[in-house]
Amino acid sequence: MQLDDLYRQVIMDHYQHPRNQGELSGDALSVDLRNPSCGDEITLQLLVEDGVVKDVRFRGSGCSISMASASMMTEAVKGMPVEDALKVTKVFRDMMKGEDVDTDELGDLEALQGVSKFPARIKCATLGWQAFEKAVKNEAHEHHDH
Ligand code: FES
Repeated sequence: MQLDDLYRQVIMDHYQHPRNQGELSGDALSVDLRNPSCGDEITLQLLVEDGVVKDVRFRGSGCSISMASASMMTEAVKGMPVEDALKVTKVFRDMMKGEDVDTDELGDLEALQGVSKFPARIKCATLGWQAFEKAVKNEAHEHHDH
């Protein structure tokens, strides 16, 4: 019960004070993603330098879970080598599928574990992460082209 309260506080804090909200200028890559079940949208911008997530920002309109999860995602991946960031993304997605994951690797993200019990909300929690994966994919593609 107490742990639930703590988790709720973490989620509300990220919802009310989103980290890394806004836009990046310059070379940042931008992706838009929509949650088909509710129509909520997120715009994510990613700047990769030397294989490291140099900066990541998001903007969106959505429920508290989607925005809190996106905020927590940006905090988790910023400064990480892209490969490690994708690993964290995978662990997070596995957690959302209800799989047993090593939550030590997730830090505050563990606060979202309870969402996996509510199938309708899983897409909310993964929206920002999917946007991140898509941005990484596009970035790799662009990199290849030039
Ligand atoms: Fe739309 Fe959660 S209800 S993202």
